[in-house]
Amino acid sequence: MLARVRSAAVFGIDAYLVDVETDIANGIPTFATVGLPQGAVKEGRERVYAALANTGFTFPLKRITVNLAPADIRKDGSAFDLPIAVGILAATEQISPERLGRVAVLGELGLEGAIRPVRGALPVALATRAAGLEALVLPRENLPEAGVVSGVRVLGAGNLAELADFLDGKAELTEASVDLTALFAERTRDDVDFAEVKGQAHAKRALEVAAAGGHNILMIGPPGSGKTMLARRIPTILPKMSLEEALETTKIHSVAGVLPLGESLVARRPFRAPHHTISDAGLIGGGSYPRPGEVSLAHSGVLFLDELPEFRKNVLEVLRQPMEERAARRRALPRARLGTAARPDRPPSGSAGREVPRPRGPGRGRAERGGTGAGRPGAGGAARAVHHPSGCVRQRAHGRARHPHVLPRVGRSGCAVTDRDHTPRALGAGVSPHSQDRAHHRRSRGSGLARIAARERGDPVPQPRPPGIGVRE
Ligand SMILES: Nc1ncnc2c1ncn2[C@@H]1O[C@H](COP(=O)(O)OP(=O)(O)OP(=O)(O)O)[C@@H](O)[C@H]1O
Ligand SMILES: [Mg+2]
Repeated sequence: MLARVRSAAVFGIDAYLVDVETDIANGIPTFATVGLPQGAVKEGRERVYAALANTGFTFPLKRITVNLAPADIRKDGSAFDLPIAVGILAATEQISPERLGRVAVLGELGLEGAIRPVRGALPVALATRAAGLEALVLPRENLPEAGVVSGVRVLGAGNLAELADFLDGKAELTEASVDLTALFAERTRDDVDFAEVKGQAHAKRALEVAAAGGHNILMIGPPGSGKTMLARRIPTILPKMSLEEALETTKIHSVAGVLPLGESLVARRPFRAPHHTISDAGLIGGGSYPRPGEVSLAHSGVLFLDELPEFRKNVLEVLRQPMEERAARRRALPRARLGTAARPDRPPSGSAGREVPRPRGPGRGRAERGGTGAGRPGAGGAARAVHHPSGCVRQRAHGRARHPHVLPRVGRSGCAVTDRDHTPRALGAGVSPHSQDRAHHRRSRGSGLARIAARERGDPVPQPRPPGIGVRE
């Protein structure tokens, strides 16, 4: 007897449908899996054998051939356990084939027949919908994640017996119901805020400008001066995520298996801070069975390389390669801002101010902050502190409101329209929005300073350049 079960596998960050064909013939008892199964798929045989026996089904002592089509793509992971088990049950007529034709099935099996969660449930649900199938049956734990996909029924099974009853039409499975809009609204709230950082007005302004222009950033400062703290808050001043961005990012996290169980959506911009001992493969991902690396996981958010000089040279080099080429191969499109931090080579006391651009504002470091440092009114501290909640910075850096030249002005939302001491000109930065030099002007178009200056003048705000790692100026 021959049975066909629809399933799916992940490639890059997308999924494709796989037909699991099971043939059972008379002959010496064997169990062969073909169609380029890799380690975990091959091992699945043992799990399937035990799960069937422990659920009370009969495992046929015959010649079993399982083919995973298309046969020329390598298949990895444990998610084929369930379709293989179901295929054997259908081929031996222990379950009815009727419902089977309209659903896709995937999941890992435990020896006692329990169905365990798998990676990549979200892209699989998208592929099932695209293929026009009626439903997707997957491990119950994956329901929240796959349930965000509408247009296909997403059903969760806890064990093999439950699934068999469903296929026989004797029982129904739990169906996912996720209100995506409500969920998205709830999840976008940030858990940290820019306002929590005291002082550091210059650093904050620099981050605001970087956020407006999609620039990468390097922070240099003594230990304890808040570099990590500031970096952690960069995602909160980037534009709010759109639903598409959230889904795209969730797909990457789902495939990498880093989406926490029960989590449906990555609706906050990711902040990834890999340790400096990371390998180049860990950073950019890849491998013969491509897996997302930290760069991809930071997609739409921030990749933060803390203690930058500690990273191995070859690891940093790979970041300079054109991301587009990589992205095309992996069919992923990582777009992240790069934040980096380093301590000065010498402690600030001995540096004579050369290596360390010492902040003029308060809060130079833990030691110096103590007394009058942090939050000193009038010097960019408390007086302006009210102007630095993430929401306000975000509005200034990306907001649509056009504000004329009266500075500073407090908008209706209670946010200062601009930061008087830190206007582009006061900052003395290299970009002059009034420059007559055309080439210079062209170069600076879309930069954070040019955009902020345009907004402050009430001119149309130029489009930001796409953020990105690997883009050198
Ligand atoms: N400007 C600040 N406002 C409020 N708290 C701060 C500030 N700077 C530092 N802190 C406090 O000090 C702690 C250490 O700061 P953080 O780890 O960000 O410093 P760092 O510059 O990254 O230091 P290191 O070079 O040692 O990594 C923070 O968790 C925070 O509690
Ligand atoms: Mg740090």
